[in-house]
Amino acid sequence: MKHIFKPGTDPEKPTLLLLHGTGGTEQDLLGLGQEIDSEASVLSIRGNVTENGMPRFFKRLSEGVFDIEDLKFRTKELYEFIEDAAKEYKFDRSNVIAIGYSNGANIAGSLLFHYGDALRGAILHHPMVPVRDMELPDLTGTPVFIGAGTNDPLCTAEESEDLNRLLKDAGASVELHWENQGHQLTMSEVQAAKQWYSKL
Ligand code: MLT
Repeated sequence: MKHIFKPGTDPEKPTLLLLHGTGGTEQDLLGLGQEIDSEASVLSIRGNVTENGMPRFFKRLSEGVFDIEDLKFRTKELYEFIEDAAKEYKFDRSNVIAIGYSNGANIAGSLLFHYGDALRGAILHHPMVPVRDMELPDLTGTPVFIGAGTNDPLCTAEESEDLNRLLKDAGASVELHWENQGHQLTMSEVQAAKQWYSKL
């Protein structure tokens, strides 16, 4: 997968796995990662599918309707890519924290839904429920920050509540943070995520 790896200055820090939104690239969230933890290593990835030239992490049938077969395939592909990257760049595979926005938050959510050991934690900015009607792995103790919008037209408040409940039922410790700026990622949401991260 096309990506950027930047080693951090403190090897004890997590590796931040950066996952962009639809139409983004591996460059997009570098500033966000820097804001959350400037000493951490960063693995920033470009989604492997394109929709009308826009990179994404998995296919969709229409807006908000996911191609579940492709989502599962791409989730496994990403999981295996992280394993390979950990060996190549020599970072601690068990200390990876995802930071995803929109489509990137959805594939990060899918990693959590499919694998108990994919992520040490996750910051999900405006995620949806990646897959319904599946049994989640044991996520006991996995910290998850959800940045949601009361008026987000893509990821509705109800959907954010559903995701919160599903992750909590699997044992994750979830903080659900609300904004009211639609689907936008605002500075106040980033600051809330940073505050959450600083307490890990
Ligand atoms: C998705 O397709 O993952 C969501 O609708 C969010 C987005 O538009 O990227």
